[in-house]
Amino acid sequence: MQNNSPASILELPPADEYALAHSRILQELICAEIRDHGGDISFARFMQMALYEPGLGYYSAGAVKIGKSGDFITAPEISPLFSICLARQCAEVLSELEQGVILELGAGTGVMAGDVLKALQALDCLPEIYYILEPSADLRQRQKLLLEQRLPDLLSRVCWLDALPAEPLRAVILANEVLDAMPVRRFRLHSDKIEEMHVAWREQRFHWCQQTADDELEQEIRKITQLSTTDFCEGYTSEINLNLPPWIKSLSDCLQQGLMLFIDYGYSRHEYYHQQRYEGTLLCHYRQRVHSDPFIYVGLQDITASVDFTAVAEAADSIDLKVAGFTTQAYFLMACGLEQIMHEQGDLADLQRLELARQIKILTLPGEMGERFKVIALSRDLHTALSGFSLVDHRRRL
Ligand SMILES: C[S@@+](CC[C@H](N)C(=O)[O-])C[C@H]1O[C@@H](n2cnc3c(N)ncnc32)[C@H](O)[C@@H]1O
Repeated sequence: MQNNSPASILELPPADEYALAHSRILQELICAEIRDHGGDISFARFMQMALYEPGLGYYSAGAVKIGKSGDFITAPEISPLFSICLARQCAEVLSELEQGVILELGAGTGVMAGDVLKALQALDCLPEIYYILEPSADLRQRQKLLLEQRLPDLLSRVCWLDALPAEPLRAVILANEVLDAMPVRRFRLHSDKIEEMHVAWREQRFHWCQQTADDELEQEIRKITQLSTTDFCEGYTSEINLNLPPWIKSLSDCLQQGLMLFIDYGYSRHEYYHQQRYEGTLLCHYRQRVHSDPFIYVGLQDITASVDFTAVAEAADSIDLKVAGFTTQAYFLMACGLEQIMHEQGDLADLQRLELARQIKILTLPGEMGERFKVIALSRDLHTALSGFSLVDHRRRL
C-alpha cells in the first residue's frame, strides 16, 4: 500500500448505513465467538474473522477494496511498470524451467496477473499456465472479469485454484502484499512475563485484554528477545506471525523447482523488533486513510502487520529452500530495468511521460514505497542468476 500519513479516527470518512449494518452482523458474530471462548479471543482469531469470515470479512465481502476508489493502492495498481519489471524476473527463471508455470497468491483485482502475462507475451516467454490461488470469492470474481476484458486471448492460460496443487510444480510463485494480510498474534513484554493481547467486548465495543502467553508464543518471543540487542521497554508491544513457517512449508511442498518472490512491507528482525517500534506495526486502511485502531469499521477496513523477513528466511532455511536474494523494492525494480522499460514505452505524449515519471517516483522513492517495501526470493534447484538482486542484495541483514 502506498504510504499515507496516519489519520486520526475523527478524520475517517463516515460509512453508509448499508456498510454499517454489514459491519454490525460481523461484529455480532465475533461477539458470539468471544462468548463461546469464555470472554476473549486472540487477536489472530479476531483478525482472521474481520478479514476472512466467509461472506462478511473484509476480503470476503463485496465492497471495492483495492485501487483509487477502494481503501488502499498497491504497487501493481499504481503502475504497470511494476509488473513489467516482475515479468522480466519471471522470464529469467521460466527460461530455465521445463514447462514452467506461474502461481500467484492473493491476486487482488487481477491487474498484476494481466500485466505480467502481457509483458511475458511480449518477451515470448509465456508460462504454460498462470495459476491464481485467491481465497476471496469476491476478488476471484473481479479477477475473472478484468482478465476477460483485458486479455481474452490469454484467458485460457489462467486457472483459478481452490487449494495449493497436490503435484509439485516447476514454477515461479508470486505474492505481492499477501504476507501483511495474514493474521498475527500480538504480545506485550513485561520485566517478568510475556502476555498475549486478546480481544474482549465491553460497553458496546471491542477492547484489548491480556492473557498469559501460551508455551508456543512464549518460546518464540523469548528466542527473539534473547537474541536481540534492543532495549525493550516495559509494556513493549508487537506482533508475530506464527503461521508463516507452516505456510512457507506448504508452498515449498508444491515447488519441485523454481522461485518464490514475496514483495511486502516489513523489515529484517532487528529493525522489526526495534525499541522505537514499541507499539508494534498494526495498520488499518479505510478509504485511503491509515490509522491503528483495528476495532472500528470491523469488516469494512483492511488490517495489516509488517512482515518480519528474517522469519521468512528462517522458515526457508529449515526446509531446504535457498534464500536467493533480499532487497528493497526500489533496487529490485531498478535492477530489473525500470529505467530502460520506461524508455521503451515508445512515443508518449508529454502528459503520459509525466504520469509514468510520477508512478516511478511512488514505486521507488524512499519516502514512498521504495524502501519500506522489500523483495525476498526463495529458490529451489535454480542456477539462473537473479537480475532483480544484482544491484544491491541485503541478505546479510536478515
Ligand atoms: C493486500 S491484498 C493484495 C492484492 C494484490 N496482490 C495486490 O498487490 O494488489 C491481499 C490479498 O491476499 C489474499 N490472501 C490473504 N491470505 C492469503 C493466503 N493465505 N493465500 C493466498 N492469498 C491470500 C487476499 O484475499 C488478497 O487478495
